[in-house]
Amino acid sequence: MQPAYEIPEFISSRARVADIDADIIAIPVPQDDAAAMQILDRAAGGDLTTATQRGAFTGKPMEMWATHVTDGAWRTRPVLAVGTGPAHELSVERARRVGGVIGLTARQQRRERVAVVVPEQWCATASCVEALVEGITFANYDNGHYKSRGLDSRFFIKHVEVAVQGPEQSNGAVERGRVIGECINAARLLINEPGNWLTPREFATRGEALLKVPGITTEILDENRIEELGMGLLLGVARGSSEPPRVLVARYEPAGAPASPVLGLVGKGITFDTGGISIKPADGMERMKDDMAGGATVIAALRAIALEQLNLRVIAIVPTTENMPGGRATKPGDVLRGASGITVEVNNTDAEGRLILGDGLWYAKELGATHLVDVATLTGACVVALGKVTTGLFGTDGWVEVVSAAAAQGGEKVWALPLFEDYRESLKSEIADMINSPGRPGGAITAAMFLKEFVGTTPWAHLDIAGTAWAEDPRAWSVKGATGVMIRTLVEIARTGGKNWP
Ligand code: BES
Ligand code: MN
Ligand code: ZN
Repeated sequence: MQPAYEIPEFISSRARVADIDADIIAIPVPQDDAAAMQILDRAAGGDLTTATQRGAFTGKPMEMWATHVTDGAWRTRPVLAVGTGPAHELSVERARRVGGVIGLTARQQRRERVAVVVPEQWCATASCVEALVEGITFANYDNGHYKSRGLDSRFFIKHVEVAVQGPEQSNGAVERGRVIGECINAARLLINEPGNWLTPREFATRGEALLKVPGITTEILDENRIEELGMGLLLGVARGSSEPPRVLVARYEPAGAPASPVLGLVGKGITFDTGGISIKPADGMERMKDDMAGGATVIAALRAIALEQLNLRVIAIVPTTENMPGGRATKPGDVLRGASGITVEVNNTDAEGRLILGDGLWYAKELGATHLVDVATLTGACVVALGKVTTGLFGTDGWVEVVSAAAAQGGEKVWALPLFEDYRESLKSEIADMINSPGRPGGAITAAMFLKEFVGTTPWAHLDIAGTAWAEDPRAWSVKGATGVMIRTLVEIARTGGKNWP
C-alpha cells in the first residue's frame, strides 16, 4: 500500500525573497497591492505588468500566475503568485485555501522544496500563518493509496520554507499549522477508507494508535463490556452485522490541568451505513463509508489537543459499528433500551446514528464530562437545509455561542438551528419513550432533539457534518473526498481552555 500523505518538513525563516533557495517560490499576492506586485514585476522583467494589463492576473482570490524570475540576483527562478483577494478580506479560511492552492500546484509541478513568502500584512495574524501551513499540509494528500499502477504520478512535497517578511509575530504558528494539518490528514485517511478495510475493530485500533500521545490514555470496549454497560442502542444497531461493535474511549489528562471543566467529545462511528432493514437505495450508497467521519474528527482533534499540550481535560468517546441488514438485525418496530434507561422504538433502522450517539453521550457524562460536543454525519435533512457549505449547529444556549465563536476563529462555517420544545412532540412513541425517526419535516432538528434527551442539563452542542464531511468535487485547494471539517473547530474550543464556558 502507498502512503496517502506525507508531512513536509517545515522551517520558518526571515530570508529575503531573492536569497531563498528552493524549487519554487510561492508568493500570496493581495489584490490591488501595487507594492507587492512591483517587487515581483521587477524580478520577472515586467512580466507581471503585462499579465495585469491582459487581465491575466489581478490578485483575485485563488488566481494563479506562474513565471520565471529573470533577475540574476534571485537564487530561485520559478515563482508562483497566488491571489488572496483584497487585504481587508483576509481570513483564516482564505489563508488555508491559499496554502492548499500552493501545495497542490507545487505537487503538480513536482517541486520537492517549496518556499512560501508570507507578505508583511499577514504577519500581524499568527492565525493566518498557521492556516497557510495547515493548507499546504492538507494539499500533500493523495487519494490513490490503493492504486498499484501509475505510481510515478504520485508526488509529495518534502520541504517547505516559510519566509516571513517583516516583524516576526508568528511564534509557533508554523508548528501549530503543521500539527493540525497532520491530524486532519490522518482523519481524512480514515474517512476515505472503504468499509471492508475499516471495520469497527480496525477503526478502534487505528484510532487508538493515533492517540498514542503523552497525556492520553485509551481503552477499547468490546461487545461484552458494551453489553455489561447496557448500551442497548449501540448493540441494537450492531445486531445486523457479523462485525462486532466497539467503543473507543480516550482521556486526555495533562498533569496540572484543573479538575473541571472536562470537555467531552463524542463522534459517530458507523463504518458503513446500508440503512439496515430500512435499506438505502443502491445509488450513491458507496458514499456511506464516510459515516464514521464524526468519530475520526474527535480522534484527530484529541490528538491535536494533546500534541499542543493544551491545559484542560478532554474525554473522547467513539461508538463504532456497521449498520447492516441481517437475519438478526433490528427490525422496524423493535424497541431498544439504552444505557441511560431510555427506551426507543426503532421505526426506521436508517436513523442509526442518533441511537449509537445516545449511548455515547450517556457514557461521556458517566465518565465526568461537564461540557459535551458531538460530531456526526447525522441527517440528509441537514444537507437539504444548509447545503454542502455549512455545518449544522444545535445545542444549549451559551455553549452554542462558544462553539460558534471557535468555528469563526478556526475559519470554519457553522450555522445554529433552533431546538424549540415544540419539536419534541414529533418524537412521541405509543409504546416506548421515543421513536428514532420522526419523518421529514425539520429532520436535522428532530435528530438533534433526540440527542438532547440523553444530555440532561449538561451544556451540549451537536455538529451535523452530513453535508460538509465529504467534498463531491475537487477544488483548486483540495481534492475530492473527506474534508476533515470541524477538527479545527474542536481544537479552537479546547484552546479557549474553559474561558467563558457556561
Ligand atoms: N448517515 C446518514 C445521514 C447522511 C445522509 C449522511 C446523506 C450523509 C449524506 C444517516 O444515518 C441517515 O441515514 N439518516 C436518515 C435519517 C432518517 C431515516 C430519519 C436520513 O437523513 O435520511
Ligand atoms: Mn442511516
Ligand atoms: Zn448514518
